[in-house]
Amino acid sequence: MTLADLNTLLTARHSCRAFRPDPVPRGDIEQIVASASRVPSWCNAQPWQLVITSGDETDRFRDAMSNEARNGTPAPDLPFPVSYSGVYQDRRRTCGWALYSAVGIERGDREGSAQQMMQNFALFGAPHCAIISSPAELGPYGAMDCGGFVTAFALAAQALGVATIPQAALAAYSPFLHQYFQIPDDRLILCAISFGYSDTDHPANSFRTERAALGDFVDWRG
Ligand SMILES: Cc1cc2nc3c(=O)[nH]c(=O)nc-3n(C[C@H](O)[C@H](O)[C@H](O)COP(=O)(O)O)c2cc1C
Repeated sequence: MTLADLNTLLTARHSCRAFRPDPVPRGDIEQIVASASRVPSWCNAQPWQLVITSGDETDRFRDAMSNEARNGTPAPDLPFPVSYSGVYQDRRRTCGWALYSAVGIERGDREGSAQQMMQNFALFGAPHCAIISSPAELGPYGAMDCGGFVTAFALAAQALGVATIPQAALAAYSPFLHQYFQIPDDRLILCAISFGYSDTDHPANSFRTERAALGDFVDWRG
């Protein structure tokens, strides 16, 4: 295993926003989860817990989640970002416009952007969805450990040809998710990962995001 191998995996992974309906074999999902669980966590607490849906369960959840997003009120367990300013605002806009222009939504088309946003709750057509939670008592560091898990999940999936998208959008409706999946209230719902095989011909999958140069985020000392 070389850094070049790892970089191949890192650059091949991207957030998939249109999936084919074909299910991922259970054995492959188990391998992905087992690989992801190799990430470090503070005190090796391994705070992540997952609910993973397949088959009819995904379709039932897709419908219920879409209904909740249409009619419910957002109340995330973990506070959503207060604002994005400066470079963070620029990067957020750039990736938003890349998606909108890929799928043909023009600036100012609020109806079109709202419909694209609603695709989150339809899981972008994915055959599987994982809901990730962390014990509330572990606080932000538990969430940080789970962030590493989410990344490793996406990379392990990529290594098996399985596409993923982490989704905070679903966590906006945490009370609904607690109730729907019987996730205890002493756990924080962090995000979802929808996953499956990419619909590579879909325009939503036709763009890639850029990364800042090292000089923009490393302060070298010595
Ligand atoms: C914690 C987290 C939450 C995210 N939530 C969403 C989401 O709700 N909807 C969405 O379309 N993308 C979501 N994304 C995907 C990001 O937009 C994406 O990772 C970023 O634009 C970089 O693009 P890439 O993943 O294709 O490299 C999320 C990513 C992360 C890590």
